[in-house]
Amino acid sequence: MRVLVTGGTGYIGSTAVEILLTQGFEISILDDCSMGHADTVPAGVRFVNGSLLNVSEVADALTGCDAVMHFAGKSLVGESVEKPDLYHSVNVDGTRILLDQMREQLITKIVFSSSAATYGEPKVVPILETSETIPTNPYGATKLAIDHMITAEAAAHGISAASLRYFNVAGALKAKRGWLAERHNPETHLIPNVLRSTTDNPVKIFGTDWPTHDGTCIRDYVHVIDLIDAHLKALQSLGKPGHEIYNLGSGSGYSVREVVAAASAATGQQIPFIDSPRRAGDPAVLIADISKAKSKLAWEPSRDMNTMVSDTLKSMA
Ligand code: UFG
Repeated sequence: MRVLVTGGTGYIGSTAVEILLTQGFEISILDDCSMGHADTVPAGVRFVNGSLLNVSEVADALTGCDAVMHFAGKSLVGESVEKPDLYHSVNVDGTRILLDQMREQLITKIVFSSSAATYGEPKVVPILETSETIPTNPYGATKLAIDHMITAEAAAHGISAASLRYFNVAGALKAKRGWLAERHNPETHLIPNVLRSTTDNPVKIFGTDWPTHDGTCIRDYVHVIDLIDAHLKALQSLGKPGHEIYNLGSGSGYSVREVVAAASAATGQQIPFIDSPRRAGDPAVLIADISKAKSKLAWEPSRDMNTMVSDTLKSMA
């Protein structure tokens, strides 16, 4: 089976490529490398260095594929507030082109990278797939618009689809050619920032007055290898027309201070930090209810916070 991995040179997409290859899949990649890195593309993979917004490049990338894992897209919450048009164009319009071209080529299976950002500020945690979706930023709004588009596509044209709503993805994978890890510039995510913290440039803790047990935000972290394992299981579940949505997290939460403590334990040194004002747009607590993925996909994450932190640390060595 040949899978098109859009966004296959990014942090999560490149990890998917690596794991799919080890499982015997053939791979094509479509990526414009605006966020990813062409040096992650392994030998033997078909690489189309192109854009989701270019119909002929999308059609070319899809040629000969049986299914799609759709990771490509803009994914920074803050940037989406400043450039909502860009987010709508790349994420929503780009996915429209991808779905149209899949239909042209009779490709009916897609696993889509959705986000917990579709839910917005939750009224109840843990969050179920049936919880209200009121995104608080354009990034989340585009992911929700795509989820709706895929539901309509499945109803109208019989595709078989799964949207995977990621909570906080962390960790890294060691491939033969080196570590596949977060390489963002600027880096906004907590764990890489904590591990890069120095006395001269300490990591900022965004908000210490949240309504949580230690005053800092709580998030649900899932290791990128476990996350891709869920993608494989979701792909294997496809066949019948329809669209299923699954939350992917661990089902439990860590506060920002607890992440700093885990990183201090992993490095054997107290990580320097500085208490700072809240970051705009952050919800206090995001924790996934993952019972649907557990029961319907037989998926369960097995890597804990210590593994996520220590794998990220090793990838930075
Ligand atoms: N944080 C800090 N200091 C930092 C970075 C982050 O205190 O230097 C805090 C944040 O305020 C937040 C927590 O650490 O409370 C996690 O922040 P991240 O930026 O690592 O992740 P987010 O929870 O903001 O975002 C993630 C994904 C988004 C997705 C969102 C869904 O990165 O793509 O989850 O809610 F939209």
